[in-house]
Amino acid sequence: MLFKVIYSVLFVLTSVNCCLSAGISSNIRCLQTEKTALLQFKQGLVDESNVLASWETGKDCCEWRGITCSNETGHVVTLDLYYNSSDVYNVETPLSGVIAPSLLELPYLTYLDLSFNNFKGKIPKFIGSLSRLKHLKLAGASLSGPIPPQLGNLSSLYALDLAWNFVTFENLEWLSHLSSLRYLNMSGLNFSEVVNWPESISKLPSLVELQLSSCNLPNVELSSLSFVNSSNSLEVLELSYNFLNLSIFYWMANVSTNLVHIGLAGDQLQGPFPDVFANMVSLVSLDLSYNKLEGRIPKSFRNLCNLELLNLLENKLSDRLEDSVENLSCAQDTLESLSLSGNLFSGSFPDNLTRFSSLKELYIDGTNVSGSLPESFQPLSQLRSLSLVLNQFTGSLPDFTGLSLLRQLFISKNQLNGSIPESIGQLSSLEDLDLSWNSLNGVVTEVHFSNLSRLNSLDFSHNPLSFNLSSDWTPPFQIKSLGLDSCKVGPAFPKWIQTQTKLTSLYMSDAEISDSIPDKFWDLSSSLFELNLSMNQIHGKLPNLSTKNSTFFSLDLSSNRLDGPLPPFPSSVAILLLSKNMLSGPLSSFCETETPNLFNLDLSENQLSGELPSCWMQFQGLFSLNMAKNNFFGKIPSSLGYLKNAALLRLHDNNLSGELPSLENCTELRVVDLGANKLSGEIPTWIGPSLTKLLVLRLR
Ligand SMILES: *[C@@H]1O[C@H](CO)[C@@H](O)[C@H](O)[C@H]1NC(C)=O
Ligand SMILES: *[C@@H]1O[C@H](CO)[C@@H](O)[C@H](O)[C@H]1NC(C)=O
Ligand SMILES: *[C@@H]1O[C@H](CO)[C@@H](O)[C@H](O)[C@H]1NC(C)=O
Ligand SMILES: *[C@@H]1O[C@H](CO)[C@@H](O)[C@H](O)[C@H]1NC(C)=O
Ligand SMILES: *[C@@H]1O[C@H](CO)[C@@H](O)[C@H](O)[C@H]1NC(C)=O
Ligand SMILES: *[C@@H]1O[C@H](CO)[C@@H](O)[C@H](O)[C@H]1NC(C)=O
Ligand SMILES: *[C@@H]1O[C@H](CO)[C@@H](O)[C@H](O)[C@H]1NC(C)=O
Ligand SMILES: *[C@@H]1O[C@H](CO)[C@@H](O)[C@H](O)[C@H]1NC(C)=O
Ligand SMILES: *[C@@H]1O[C@H](CO)[C@@H](O)[C@H](O)[C@H]1NC(C)=O
Ligand SMILES: *[C@@H]1O[C@H](CO)[C@@H](O)[C@H](O)[C@H]1NC(C)=O
Ligand SMILES: *[C@@H]1O[C@H](CO)[C@@H](O)[C@H](O)[C@H]1NC(C)=O
Ligand SMILES: *[C@@H]1O[C@H](CO)[C@@H](O)[C@H](O)[C@H]1NC(C)=O
Repeated sequence: MLFKVIYSVLFVLTSVNCCLSAGISSNIRCLQTEKTALLQFKQGLVDESNVLASWETGKDCCEWRGITCSNETGHVVTLDLYYNSSDVYNVETPLSGVIAPSLLELPYLTYLDLSFNNFKGKIPKFIGSLSRLKHLKLAGASLSGPIPPQLGNLSSLYALDLAWNFVTFENLEWLSHLSSLRYLNMSGLNFSEVVNWPESISKLPSLVELQLSSCNLPNVELSSLSFVNSSNSLEVLELSYNFLNLSIFYWMANVSTNLVHIGLAGDQLQGPFPDVFANMVSLVSLDLSYNKLEGRIPKSFRNLCNLELLNLLENKLSDRLEDSVENLSCAQDTLESLSLSGNLFSGSFPDNLTRFSSLKELYIDGTNVSGSLPESFQPLSQLRSLSLVLNQFTGSLPDFTGLSLLRQLFISKNQLNGSIPESIGQLSSLEDLDLSWNSLNGVVTEVHFSNLSRLNSLDFSHNPLSFNLSSDWTPPFQIKSLGLDSCKVGPAFPKWIQTQTKLTSLYMSDAEISDSIPDKFWDLSSSLFELNLSMNQIHGKLPNLSTKNSTFFSLDLSSNRLDGPLPPFPSSVAILLLSKNMLSGPLSSFCETETPNLFNLDLSENQLSGELPSCWMQFQGLFSLNMAKNNFFGKIPSSLGYLKNAALLRLHDNNLSGELPSLENCTELRVVDLGANKLSGEIPTWIGPSLTKLLVLRLR
């Protein structure tokens, strides 16, 4: 008999399991009272995009969207209608309306998440009576009004997320009753009146994770601190974007010896870096970026042997970098991300940094560190990002052998010389490479790119580098951004660039090119956004880019030897710079051009002639217009008066005649140069009253 009972219980259990795992609706159905309660809850909601379409009377409510029932009792245990606002593909509208008290008919509810919906009302008091709740998440739900102290009755609560609402509270008395609470998120709430928050928090016996970013947290009064009965359970402490001063360090140092993460980014930590880390031996991640810490990385960092992330970006630390790094030596095997950028560190590159064998990200940008780089970064075989921009490094580039995972390599704006090592071509994961603004010389060959199949952006600008790439070279990459300004690229226009069909940005100014631009190159204009080929010896005629599907925003071909007439512009263009070429003839196609975004047009120092076009109403976005030093003649068209946003107007050194049209509506004008023409008549009286921002007026 007993055997039979056990057998049948087992049978029921296994059959339930089988059906659940097979996804067939189980024989456990939701309870009628709970279904009725949920339907009443739905009635209170405004559900514009029918998120709750599945909530139909005829269906098992355990199958409804957002509902989970206990597979033992059938009671509703989860109500999760979280709105994913960070999903850009989310076409649904958040729920609004009221949170109806019928939820009280769900006595076994343990998980309630209504985050990022749009309720606008208060947090209902009755939520404090959902006594089995373990997770209450109401983040970003547009809730306002006082937090009901009844929430303090939720003695089983394990996680509470009220972040990013407009709710108010005067103290945290209610919170102190939540003895099971492990996760608390009240980021974005206004704590400015809650002076004793440190004490209330330190007494929560189970609290593991505290998120209080952007809370206007009052500073800690050291004199009033007491750590008697402090719980020591805290592991994650996120207090970024408050206005905290250094006193917070003394609270942290005593509130828990189990801290794993500390976030104090963007606070007001100002003064010498406190030496309070001796007991924080569990610390894994420390973010102190965007503060004003001075001095050096303190000695007590020597106890931090588990540190994986240290972010000191944008402070005022001014030690010799070697000395600061020495105090990190215990984290030599664990540290994965180190950001020291934007500090006043001096000294040289710490050789010992290459012992940090787990480093994945190393950022030392914008410091005063000088001297040579290590000969090799080979020991840092885990590196993904290496950024050493804007320092005073001299000598040659290191050997890059062995960095097979490196994706970003930025060493621009230093004083490095010598040639680029061929080992750079072996960085097979490399996506972004910037060595611009150094004094690197020597010859760049195909070997330098041999395995760079993932390269996305490359900048070698402002280095006296020469290129020796065969004319039929096909690169292993499809690059998006290429910078070769002031490199010796020419004399031929590099043919391999035509293979780069994803190119959006090409900078090749002052690159010693004395060639014509191949017609096929302009096929790339359907992806090119910025093109700068100025200051070369490029000759030939400009094609009609208005017929291409061009995406140009900025096109700079100034200071070349282009000739022929000015073709219609690409319609997307905002910045068009063609000065100092040999363009000639009248602007016959000018008015055919629809360029609503044109902002800066420079056609100066060409041989353009004829009358100025009279369709300036089409170009009302213009900020700067320069047609100086050409052979334009005839009257200045009155439609120039439509350029109400123009600040710079230069028509000097032409053969323009007649009187000035009215520019009284061009009230933004700062510089007007009409000199060296044949204009006549009186100086108009509107100039004074209308052009109040005028700085330069030249009419001679
Ligand atoms: C209930 O279902 C969950 C999820 O399928 C499962 O992990 C759990 O073991 C089940 N409980 C019982 C008692 O069957
Ligand atoms: C929200 O959407 C983002 C983007 O699609 C996704 O990465 C994330 O996992 C989603 N969050 C949740 C909780 O489903
Ligand atoms: C719930 O909280 C209120 C206000 O904090 C309190 O007066 C009441 O006694 C509590 N109810 C229970 C059942 O604990
Ligand atoms: C609040 O913090 C918790 C961790 O404690 C996190 O999981 C949650 O996403 C945070 N909420 C918001 C709105 O960021
Ligand atoms: C925070 O609350 C204080 C006092 O109630 C108020 O003066 C301040 O304007 C509030 N700050 C914000 C950002 O709402
Ligand atoms: C510390 O806890 C003990 C035991 O719960 C209690 O008797 C004592 O009053 C508490 N002390 C303080 C200062 O809260
Ligand atoms: C921080 O602010 C508190 C409160 O204003 C003040 O008592 C304390 O002296 C300040 N601490 C430091 C280090 O400036
Ligand atoms: C907290 O810790 C710091 C540094 O460890 C110590 O100097 C200080 O006396 C402690 N403060 C309190 C109030 O216990
Ligand atoms: C570590 O920091 C201390 C104090 O901040 C400093 O005096 C020392 O030079 C640094 N290096 C070593 C090895 O202690
Ligand atoms: C480099 O690290 C070793 C071991 O971690 C240490 O003994 C040595 O003093 C350090 N040297 C420098 C110059 O930092
Ligand atoms: C221009 O590009 C758009 C979008 O990619 C495409 O729909 C259109 O057909 C193209 N027009 C021409 C003339 O290529
Ligand atoms: C300047 O603008 C006013 C008001 O829009 C208009 O009546 C006037 O005709 C304009 N003047 C010129 C010279 O365009």
